[in-house]
Amino acid sequence: MPVITSIADLKRLHKRRTPKMFYDYCESGSWTEQTFRENTSDFDQIRLRQRIAVDMSDRTTASQMIGQDVAMPVALAPVGLTGMQRADGEIKAARAAEKFGVPFTLSTMSICSIEDVAEHTTKPFWFQLYVMRDEDYVDAIIERAKVAGCSALVLTLDLQILGQRHKDLKNGLTAPPKLTPPVILDLATKWRWGIEMLQTKRKTFGNIVGHAKGVENMNSLHTWTAEQFDPRLDWEKVRILKKKWGRKLILKGILDVEDAKMAAEVGADAIIVSNHGGRQLDGALSSIKMLPGIMRAVGDKVEVHLDSGIRSGQDVLKALALGAKGVMIGRAYIHGLGAMGEKGVTTALAVIQKELDITMALCGKRDVKDLSPDVLLVPDDFEGKWA
Ligand code: GLV
Repeated sequence: MPVITSIADLKRLHKRRTPKMFYDYCESGSWTEQTFRENTSDFDQIRLRQRIAVDMSDRTTASQMIGQDVAMPVALAPVGLTGMQRADGEIKAARAAEKFGVPFTLSTMSICSIEDVAEHTTKPFWFQLYVMRDEDYVDAIIERAKVAGCSALVLTLDLQILGQRHKDLKNGLTAPPKLTPPVILDLATKWRWGIEMLQTKRKTFGNIVGHAKGVENMNSLHTWTAEQFDPRLDWEKVRILKKKWGRKLILKGILDVEDAKMAAEVGADAIIVSNHGGRQLDGALSSIKMLPGIMRAVGDKVEVHLDSGIRSGQDVLKALALGAKGVMIGRAYIHGLGAMGEKGVTTALAVIQKELDITMALCGKRDVKDLSPDVLLVPDDFEGKWA
């Protein structure tokens, strides 16, 4: 067994064990991938303040997100096609999150359905919604999430139109994959993936096929998603959806102070500062760079979470110290899943928790809830002056 010490180790195994088209789907940004790269490199600009001779006993990473107790304030982000990274991937990730004590968010574009994940877990998870033009479908999926006991709706607001990721087009991404000669060659070296996949019935979009009108197979599904994501989504619709849902609402994809103010005004329980992992508007600034301004604008009005760029416990600490109440990880746990299934997701969470705990201690803090900007060294020009 390889010794896993970091998310980078899991990423290497993920790449080795997963079909190229799905690894690439995870490890892509849109267009030039500038925003994708800066999401991580901007974290590196922030340094940590080493403190000494502070009692470091009895440390805790436990906290709360939207009033829910969490073992650490790190939720699993919604990731499309998770069940293609590893057979039954969403169920495996949800189980790992439940055992670890952190929230799991199921994507609309998941392979395992809401009902399937609910059946294989015991605690409520969060459900992420993409707003589609087909209002009956949207109403029905909100109802399905309620019946399944989902405790929060994560409404994604930055993907009315899909950003172009070159690799997905070049690889001919589909779920399940089409068996073209290059795919067959690739699968020949990914035998573990193939054997597990042959044993599961969950091979395409479980929340959609059989639920949305006229969507019976992958070919029509592609057309359907391109046509069906609702480009008219606006704040009025957000208000309507909030009412229909009636439980905790988290708005995802906030990157601008004005949008953060609107999100607070509609009464979201939390917002996620996010640029969709650099997968949507290439050229946008990183989430961590936008966080301080958003905190100043709405930090006292709404709970703020952050995603895009978190690959370590040090990154988690930086986001928390700048004011976020919690963060979401996507690629970091998908690397674990692709590498080692459920155990890999647990390993990813354990790696991040250990890094967070030790970093916190070496910064002279014992409780994640006490983190503040004084543990950081932030360059004067970190936020930059953008006209
Ligand atoms: C969907 O959420 C994607 O980013 O691919």
